[in-house]
Amino acid sequence: MTGKVINETVRLANIAPIMFRKALTDVQIEGYTIPAGWSVIVCPAAVHLNPDIYKDPLAFNPWRWKNDGAYKYFMAFGGGMRFCAGADFSKMQMAVFLHYLVTEYRWRVVNGGKIVRTPDLAFPDGFHVQIKAKGC
Ligand code: HEM
Repeated sequence: MTGKVINETVRLANIAPIMFRKALTDVQIEGYTIPAGWSVIVCPAAVHLNPDIYKDPLAFNPWRWKNDGAYKYFMAFGGGMRFCAGADFSKMQMAVFLHYLVTEYRWRVVNGGKIVRTPDLAFPDGFHVQIKAKGC
């Protein structure tokens, strides 16, 4: 389940808003030609927030990762030959963080939380959370 929470987190809040590629030869794709030498900007949010791919895309729903189809278009860590070298390391760190957060701490939202998407996720008024060790 932790892995599903992590996937859902990076789907909604990716730290890599765009990726660049250069067409080395003319590329035909769905009736369009990308001429050799052109640069292409890939915007993962255009895919991750597409309601045809991820139903109700702005909802935080880790359960959607029970469906193998959710993985088909997932590109938070890129893809192909330039796939993120730190993907597993990052997921491990997030899993450790989440484990200690939910087992050792409790938290409450203090202030902010207004969300703006450009399509990057941003909190213009900040997002302040008070975290306390359990039992304190
Ligand atoms: C949540 C955390 C992270 C995300 C979302 C992320 C995302 C990405 C993405 C999308 C790419 C592909 C860029 C492209 O295709 O042009 C990439 C590449 C890369 N990432 Fe990450 N990354 C994360 C953490 C890390 C960490 C912690 C490391 C190192 C310890 C790392 C090392 C790399 C390296 C070396 C590449 C280049 C791989 C190559 O070009 O062969 N990343 N990352």
